[in-house]
Amino acid sequence: MKRIGLLTSGGDCQALNAAMRGVVKGLSNNVEKLEVYGFLNGYKGLIYGDYRLLTSADFSGILTKGGTILGSSRQPFKLMRVPDENGLDKVEAMKHTYHKLNLNCLVILGGNGTQKTANLLREEGLNIIHLPKTIDNDIYGTDVTFGFQSAINIATDAIDCIHTTAASHNRVFIVEVMGHKVGWLTLYAGVAGGADIILLPEIPYDTEKVVEAITRRTKAGKGFTILAVAEGAISKEDAALSKKEYKEKLAKTKYPSVSYEIAEKINKITGIEVRVTVPGHTQRGGSPCPYDRTLCTRLGSAAAQAIMDEDYGYMIGLVNGKTKRIPLAEVAGKLKTVDPNGQMIKEAKRTGISFGD
Ligand code: F6P
Repeated sequence: MKRIGLLTSGGDCQALNAAMRGVVKGLSNNVEKLEVYGFLNGYKGLIYGDYRLLTSADFSGILTKGGTILGSSRQPFKLMRVPDENGLDKVEAMKHTYHKLNLNCLVILGGNGTQKTANLLREEGLNIIHLPKTIDNDIYGTDVTFGFQSAINIATDAIDCIHTTAASHNRVFIVEVMGHKVGWLTLYAGVAGGADIILLPEIPYDTEKVVEAITRRTKAGKGFTILAVAEGAISKEDAALSKKEYKEKLAKTKYPSVSYEIAEKINKITGIEVRVTVPGHTQRGGSPCPYDRTLCTRLGSAAAQAIMDEDYGYMIGLVNGKTKRIPLAEVAGKLKTVDPNGQMIKEAKRTGISFGD
């Protein structure tokens, strides 16, 4: 008999359901009796005892379904130790729900913040398995997170669509790709979509260099230029500000996002009109791509095996193509960022892509 809890927390992504299905199928085919409790809307459900006893029917037909059947919400890690508006101790409340249901294990699907809370619950003595989700691909210790590949496909499609219209009109276009802290998605979609300039949070840009890259193309007879810009792209001047100063600057800005500021800077120097396209949350939506479905079935099944082995306290990641149990204590709180001197950046630069540096 196994009693497990499931929850999905933080921003959603495409293959959350596929991963939960992998866990439940992996267990139900191999243990005599299984009870699965689904906590609704992330940690909220665990804190306030909002859950549903799930049946095998809940996991049928969800391999291809985007979003999460459990709902999700953002519950910042830094507020977990802060009592709620009614003075409730959230950590004690989560432990209470877990013990009340007499769970063997809690499977938590989420990104960096979610992982930190998962580790906190582990430190508090709960049996935890974490599965690494995020379109940002910024979870340390796994080669890849689920959602990333599906989001690359969507962001690349957006760039592809812009390509044809940019070419017809001889225009400069910015496609803003999700990722405030890291640029993996922008890097992969930018390269896959044939962007000419890619701006990432990890490589502060110099506006002059961006303009130079556009001018170089114009002189070479290329009428259009496409920039793939991460939500968190930052100029060299802004990168020199303290975190506090930069936050204050962003709070006062008139631009809806960084891309509009970059567009205006380019326009001021060159006189060229720059169009901005923001695919936004479409990048987290829709059906998971086949890669993510496969990845999540593998990660879910590997999680089921860890539960059957009663081996807890891990993120189940992918390392060199193999599923692996990675101690949460080793990875929680660490971010996997793009290395500005890494091989992929060098390879992209060799093909003529400018990173504005
Ligand atoms: O962490 C995933 C992510 O989609 C980021 O790429 C993006 O910056 C952020 O979430 C958007 O958050 P929200 O859905 O809360 O607007």
